[in-house]
Amino acid sequence: MKYDFNKVYDRKNTSSTKWDGMKENFGKDDLIPMWIADMDFPVAEPIKKAIKSRADYPFYGYSKIKNSLINVIVKRVWDKFQWRIEKEWIVFTPGVISGINIAIRTVANSGDGIVIQQPVYHLFFSSIMNSGCQIVNNPLKFDNGNYEMDFKNLTEIAEESKENGSKSKSIDAILLCNPHNPIGRVWRKEELLELGKIAVKNDLFVISDEIHSEIIYKGYKHQPFASLSKEFEENSITSISPSKTFNLAGLNVSSMIIPNKKIREKFKDTMAGIVSQPNIFALEAFEAGFKYGDPWLNDVLEYLQENLDFMINYFKDIKGIKPIRAEGTYLIWLDCRKLNLKQADLKDLMINDAKVGLEDGTIFGDGGEGFMRMNIALPRSLLEEALRRIKTTVDKL
Ligand SMILES: Cc1ncc(COP(=O)(O)O)c(C=O)c1O
Repeated sequence: MKYDFNKVYDRKNTSSTKWDGMKENFGKDDLIPMWIADMDFPVAEPIKKAIKSRADYPFYGYSKIKNSLINVIVKRVWDKFQWRIEKEWIVFTPGVISGINIAIRTVANSGDGIVIQQPVYHLFFSSIMNSGCQIVNNPLKFDNGNYEMDFKNLTEIAEESKENGSKSKSIDAILLCNPHNPIGRVWRKEELLELGKIAVKNDLFVISDEIHSEIIYKGYKHQPFASLSKEFEENSITSISPSKTFNLAGLNVSSMIIPNKKIREKFKDTMAGIVSQPNIFALEAFEAGFKYGDPWLNDVLEYLQENLDFMINYFKDIKGIKPIRAEGTYLIWLDCRKLNLKQADLKDLMINDAKVGLEDGTIFGDGGEGFMRMNIALPRSLLEEALRRIKTTVDKL
């Protein structure tokens, strides 16, 4: 490994939500922060260099997307996922969540239902509600420590909505999380095909959030939903972003891939005047990451794999908590139900006794009770210390 991710950095007073937002979120700031999705690893050298060199040129006016960035996105999507996208399909937004908000407003009308599969990334809820739409849950099935999509239920709710015909109850789209935060599944091709088949049959548009697509563990492969057929392509919007892959969340940048021309024009109309172009430093970082970031990313993936294995192994000695082995993402879903604690007590135990800042499982909706989410993208010594504290705390129960 060229990069050293063992070094512990003090990120306090750096305008970091993860570090400086602890007091607001947990009521105290002396915890090991393992909540919001960013990594405690410094960014790749080429990204830092690209931002510095742009900063040296003292003109920070309105941005215009360079052709070289568009080309690099097209190339990377092909190289990594063998999905051939066209340059004009790409629309930039200052982050995935703003892109998802616009996508919902583009494809759905106020009052329409949008399907999500809970437990799921919590900002999906507000994206749907703020767009005046309704949340329709197709709960994930949890069997034998394994999560799966419930196609039978999805078919039933989609068909019911079609038959019902009443606009206020109609379901318009599925908001897919691929890979799925917080349960860490990397959806298999067959699963996506099944989902797409149901969507096409029932006129459901698919918004596929693929922000975690490059944090994938050994033995798994990310499949972009839209890459599976021309029909899926025309019937979907996909988010592709460097922010999780290269740890750039604070730069607020993302690209939405919209093959359907009519939808793309509507998307652009919907965002006009509300959402600006990404800032110039973000664009430099995006391009540098996609072009030169792979040596860093390969090292990060190796380090995360070791953290994952280390953590899974450590939990074998912690009674009452079972981690769900993630296939992708550095966010690990912990099944704490055997501790038999109320959610408030579980949170209190982690914050005030173990002094670790985990994400409360209930923010991810139904199916989150009794669970916590742990971010393992941090130096091994901190991970080990956090696990040691959790074990000591749980042993006392
Ligand atoms: C599934 C998912 N989508 C979107 C985001 C946020 O993306 P952005 O910061 O680009 O809005 C996250 C962050 O954790 C996420 O996990």
